[in-house]
Amino acid sequence: MRDYVLRGNLCYSADMDHIETRAHAYLVCLDGRCAGVFDQLPARYAQLPLADFGDRLILPGMTDLHVHAPQFAFRGLGMDMELLEWLNTYTFPEESKYRELDYAGRAYSSFVQHLRRSETTRAVIFATIHVPATELLMQKLEDAGLCSYVGKVNMNRNCPDYLREDSTVQAVRDTRRWIEETKDRFTRTRPIITPRFIPSCTDDLMYALRDLREEYDLPVQSHLSENYSEIAWIRELCPRAKHYGDAYDQFGLFGGGYPCIMAHCVHSNEDEQALIRQRGVFIAHSPESNINLASGVAPVNQFLDNGLRVGLATDIAGGSHESMLRATMHAIQASKLRWRLYDQNVKPLSFERAFYLATMGGGAFFGKVGSFLDGFELDAVVLDDGTLDHPQALSVRARLERAVYLADERNITAKFVAGERLF
Ligand code: GUN
Ligand code: FE
Repeated sequence: MRDYVLRGNLCYSADMDHIETRAHAYLVCLDGRCAGVFDQLPARYAQLPLADFGDRLILPGMTDLHVHAPQFAFRGLGMDMELLEWLNTYTFPEESKYRELDYAGRAYSSFVQHLRRSETTRAVIFATIHVPATELLMQKLEDAGLCSYVGKVNMNRNCPDYLREDSTVQAVRDTRRWIEETKDRFTRTRPIITPRFIPSCTDDLMYALRDLREEYDLPVQSHLSENYSEIAWIRELCPRAKHYGDAYDQFGLFGGGYPCIMAHCVHSNEDEQALIRQRGVFIAHSPESNINLASGVAPVNQFLDNGLRVGLATDIAGGSHESMLRATMHAIQASKLRWRLYDQNVKPLSFERAFYLATMGGGAFFGKVGSFLDGFELDAVVLDDGTLDHPQALSVRARLERAVYLADERNITAKFVAGERLF
């Protein structure tokens, strides 16, 4: 059933600097898309089924633009290292376990159940190099009713034998088989080309992934300019590249004519930012991960001022939690520390902008997603903030801001994805 009306306190971005709040208003959904917000329900919609959520808050579902499903099991552990050491010490040993389908089944069930209960309606996900486990993850996400892109990870150098593709030929054969098996199998779950990052892929593998991308017309995701040692390494590995982004671009894997997400961009210089903008690359800003791995803080407000496309991400297990409400809070907090301690030229993120990043900003990767404006796919989360009691009556705007800081999945009472009600 994709024609209905929701009623409650609606909160959604109109653009990156404005949040609309409409108390006890009606949101009409026709064929899974938003078809108007009204204070009084027009007579022509009176026959539609009405879900009245009373005094609860209704916000757009959130998009996690970058998350590692196989790292969910060690979230909250191993926060004592920087990126490259952290990968070798914690991440690669954990990801190697997904060779076993039994382990993958248990771990991915846990990840998907948490995601389903969370405020995330859409996610762009890294799996591991293993095809059977990646397909199992995709099936679980599909069954849960979430919308996602999932990447079988590619890595064939600078990684341990136990988590390395045997050869470029083998990697390409596996990736092609996985694309063939998944590209038309689901309605909400789609494959995305996923080189882990340049240090873990040989040049010939990168070019082969470019060719596969073109052949099947798929989007791309990877990591960019997250950590100083990583960037120094790129200068050795790709001496002809002007910067890290240029290296991806030379491999033909940096967007421009097709969708592409680069996670982090903490240390992207002016030239790199210009290329990101030119190619329409989405930046997946992952503030908690950038704190935990001591990577730094990306100048997100500058990205937005300069017209770059940005969304928010948890980057589990760099980030410790799947909650996009928390990610929104962390984005604001990190931007304040960056401004106070490091660079007074880039102002802290406003609440409006942070909320926009979590909803409309990242949602744009999926099309018209992340707002209740007309024509947007209906992704919605209903929050009961009754447990966040307060001695005074608060405005809807104030309740929304408090909910972002204080609510968790226990406050979520209903969830809709692409017009379908999950619970
Ligand atoms: N760069 C390459 N792999 C990873 C990863 O798994 N997590 C993060 N945060 N950065 C990476
Ligand atoms: Fe990541």
